[in-house]
Amino acid sequence: MTAYAYDAWYPLAWSRDIGPRLATRRVLEEDLVVWRNAQGQVAALEDVCPHRLAPLSLGTLKEDAVECGYHGLRFDCSGQCVAAPGMQRPPAGAAVRSYPTAESMGMVWVWMGEPARADRSQVFHLPEYDDPNYSVVEGDALPVQANYLNLADNLCDPTHVVYVHKSTLASAGREETRVMHERQGNKVVTWRWVIDGPLIPVFQGLKDFGGNVDRWHYYHYHAPSIAVIDFGSARTGTGAPEGNREDCIQMYACHFITPVDQRSCVQHWLCLKNSPADPEVDERLRDNLRLAFNEDKAVLEAIQRNEDKPRDWKRIHLSLDASSIKMRRIVEEMAAAPAR
Ligand code: FES
Ligand SMILES: [Fe+2]
Repeated sequence: MTAYAYDAWYPLAWSRDIGPRLATRRVLEEDLVVWRNAQGQVAALEDVCPHRLAPLSLGTLKEDAVECGYHGLRFDCSGQCVAAPGMQRPPAGAAVRSYPTAESMGMVWVWMGEPARADRSQVFHLPEYDDPNYSVVEGDALPVQANYLNLADNLCDPTHVVYVHKSTLASAGREETRVMHERQGNKVVTWRWVIDGPLIPVFQGLKDFGGNVDRWHYYHYHAPSIAVIDFGSARTGTGAPEGNREDCIQMYACHFITPVDQRSCVQHWLCLKNSPADPEVDERLRDNLRLAFNEDKAVLEAIQRNEDKPRDWKRIHLSLDASSIKMRRIVEEMAAAPAR
């Protein structure tokens, strides 16, 4: 069992998926009813009526309030009960918990901790998302039947790429490239360089360097549930490892993970690239990334099935585990922060 860090902005849903109708999402084992109100803001309430505990999502949306489908109590976007059939005014103190929300990078974020501690200036945002030199390839909301920290392990670990992603993200024969890592506040950065190698399959067709490239992978894991993979390539010998990325393919693969419960999560992913939007190129990139992330999903779900067996597994540790150990320590620290 892993403890949850509540004081954090968690990815809730793609903005494109939340409209003026009731939707449900599960985050940290809490069920939420979610909709977009007339002002365009996203309301998120605990999905339970305080009368007989019917899920509010079984009710209907009436004038920006959710009407319970059992006896008609109505709750506004703040969770306050605003109407009770047959009564002159709602029962005193009738309310459901509401969760602060925000939107950034095409994603709705929800604050699962004490609302007074929610600071919207802390919602994750990558500056390149608004940079006209970049285009966005929005991906999926991929359900993964695995603990979100196992997915986080995977996103702190460049070494699996050559084994799991042979057809998309890897170049053969580069198993031994050295991996570095460092904790920076509540983030762990794990990186590796491949010098003088061929262009990897997902980069093909984006740029012609006329030969081999230097390729970088920097995995930025922002605890508890965001990973940004800064990866790209420049013609070998042009000084990319020293910081010259002037003429390069640059991508940021962003993974916004919603921890659903101890055995499942949703992996929202998008990719930013420093080349213009192009329907054909973007579709191919999306297909390649989709293939790669489904390769991870297959491994992670199989691992979860093994973890679920009633066995006392003895595991060995490898040096490649160092950054995920650091990442898990940060999540533990965040989870031990003041209770709600
Ligand atoms: S259960 Fe919701 S009004 Fe009765
Ligand atoms: Fe992977």
